[in-house]
Amino acid sequence: LNKIRADKPDFKLSLRQKADILNKAVGDYLAAQQDIEPQIKKAISYALEAPGKRIRAAMVLWCCELCDGSTNKDAVNAAIAVEMIHTYSLVHDDLPAMDDDDLRRGRPSCHKAFSESIAILTGDALLTMAFQLLASEISDHSIAVSLIKTLSQAAGPAGMIAGQMADIAGQDQEGSIEDLRYIHKNKTAKMFAAAAAAGAICGKATENQIESLYNYGLKIGLGFQVADDLLDITSTSEQLGKTPGKDSQQGKITYPSIVGIEKSKKIASQLADQAIAELNDFDANADILRNLALELVKRTS
Ligand code: IPE
Ligand code: IPE
Ligand code: MG
Ligand code: MG
Ligand code: MG
Repeated sequence: LNKIRADKPDFKLSLRQKADILNKAVGDYLAAQQDIEPQIKKAISYALEAPGKRIRAAMVLWCCELCDGSTNKDAVNAAIAVEMIHTYSLVHDDLPAMDDDDLRRGRPSCHKAFSESIAILTGDALLTMAFQLLASEISDHSIAVSLIKTLSQAAGPAGMIAGQMADIAGQDQEGSIEDLRYIHKNKTAKMFAAAAAAGAICGKATENQIESLYNYGLKIGLGFQVADDLLDITSTSEQLGKTPGKDSQQGKITYPSIVGIEKSKKIASQLADQAIAELNDFDANADILRNLALELVKRTS
């Protein structure tokens, strides 16, 4: 672990490089879409090109690199699709009928910058575009179908939507740790798992590698959401780029609300260790993913 920690600066640099690749690819892709209605295009670009951390996209690229030696065009396209689905989820999550948050990625939320109806349509557009992109741009049909299957399962009603349903239904309810695990696994972790698996699929990985990286992504996502719950309490809107204190305001079931801050930190770090354990079959080339596990649970933004 000491060795992994010593590599820290490389992690920040690598995340930065992957985010740059993603941002450029998103810009190029949107610029090439001539037929999109101009007003919705503005809102799509506003939401998608806002300064997100691009962690899920980076996971796609890192996992492709791990399995294939380098990233490739398919992985870049899969990373765009993942960010489109993720961004749609944020736009809808912020709506007044959901978490009612006015700030996102350091800017007014989509429904504040445009309107509620445009934000709903922007989410719809981003989700649809993600699958259009995968159906149109991936080099090989069997890779495209695998990606579409993996990402639609993660984002759909047996995944993120199920988690968002439970998150909303849990408001002002007394939740258990089992409820929390269900919510976090579905609303957040399955998309992380799908991002990791998508990278592996683009890297022509073996079934075993895809499964290991999927399981790694699940643990990362669980730890990531525990950290998100902690940050909602301990961080500022400047650091977060979103409104802190929303969870308790809305009576959400969160780790800190059920087990307290200290125990939540412990659980986050256990999940990071479990994520790293899923990488046992990989050599030192997976160190960037090991770093990610350690980095995510102690992030401040
Ligand atoms: C926020 O995700 C939503 C959660 C699942 C906690 P991120 O913290 O990755 O948001 P961006 O993409 O960096 O804005
Ligand atoms: C978001 O969870 C999960 C999604 C699927 C969008 P949160 O509601 O905690 O995310 P933030 O804190 O608003 O980013
Ligand atoms: Mg929410
Ligand atoms: Mg929210
Ligand atoms: Mg949150």
